[in-house]
Amino acid sequence: MKRTIYFAFLYLFGTSIGKPNAVTQHVSPSKPTPTEIFGNSWQLDSDGSYWLFWKTNTTHITFETHVKTKGYVGFGLSSNGKMFPSDVVVGWVDSNGTAHFKDCHTEGHYAPTIDSSQDWMLLQGLEDNFGTVLKFVRKLDTCDDKDYQITDNTIKVIYSYHPDDPASFDTLPWHGANRQGAKSVMLLSAVKSNDYQLPPDAEQFDILHNNFHVPANTDTTYQCKIFKVPEKPSKRHIIRFEPIITRGNEDVVHHFVVFSCPTATDNDEGSVFNCYGVRPKKYEKCNDILLAWAIGGVGYDFPHNAGFSLNAPGDPQYLILETHFTNPTLKSGMGAK
Ligand code: HEM
Repeated sequence: MKRTIYFAFLYLFGTSIGKPNAVTQHVSPSKPTPTEIFGNSWQLDSDGSYWLFWKTNTTHITFETHVKTKGYVGFGLSSNGKMFPSDVVVGWVDSNGTAHFKDCHTEGHYAPTIDSSQDWMLLQGLEDNFGTVLKFVRKLDTCDDKDYQITDNTIKVIYSYHPDDPASFDTLPWHGANRQGAKSVMLLSAVKSNDYQLPPDAEQFDILHNNFHVPANTDTTYQCKIFKVPEKPSKRHIIRFEPIITRGNEDVVHHFVVFSCPTATDNDEGSVFNCYGVRPKKYEKCNDILLAWAIGGVGYDFPHNAGFSLNAPGDPQYLILETHFTNPTLKSGMGAK
């Protein structure tokens, strides 16, 4: 049987030096079960109260939200991650089991306005042991100027929820400061499948930016580090990669690229340098891109009949991880243990 490597990237940098790193974004303690198989899922908040599942085809996108509440749920698309202007839906399931749902838009930090054209359609609304489940579909481009066109660009999804059902859409209570948030996501190309089971012999290879402190005196840092591909007795394949980012620091990691570096040697393993500063001359030929990820991406599962070969003659032996950290507010104290 073909052996495989599960290839993952670990970014280790916490906001307080000396605290244990909690780098477990891919660990889902109490992930709810969706009503059907979706290609994508994401925990939107930090404590696992708000989960989003979605799938797309060439014309439509279907979302399913699972939220730990028996009250109302808000979900939407926003270009800047703010509550307004944004394209939102609000829904809840009342004590009789009836689902209420409206396509709305927001114009301020006040209750959303119901769209005159209802283009987000509720497919299912129910309450279960986890909380409230809403499944809804819309066209990628609804042609309503109050709705966002969904493209393969990164977009911010926003969410909110409340513990109580409102009496009507006109009397929505404020969700409160702790029951709202935003996350960058590529809705059309975040292709890490939930349903893809890794083979039992899959191995994980983590690439870590250990001991790196994001500078507070510049908004843009390109940090490079050299890694050696683990030596194995026979050929392996990369079948998945995903970013692992310290919770709370998601907005700081803008993108990464992994290059193969044929001119590196064992002595270079672990070397770090500013990618676009004084780059050691011997790494000038390290330009072949293996993998890339950008903010909003979830990860990538290679197709079942494909993989990126490692450990065969001519395969990459050394890698450069180039990471663009962005720190527009010049925040200090972000670093690895
Ligand atoms: C009656 C309904 C609503 C009211 C009165 C309301 C009010 C507010 C207020 C006052 C804030 C600022 C909070 C702060 O600065 O701490 C806020 C933030 C936020 N709200 Fe709402 N909201 C409502 C519904 C919604 C809905 C349906 C969504 C949809 C997802 C939403 C998403 C957000 C988000 C993501 C934020 C944080 C970003 C920002 O400050 O703009 N809200 N909301």
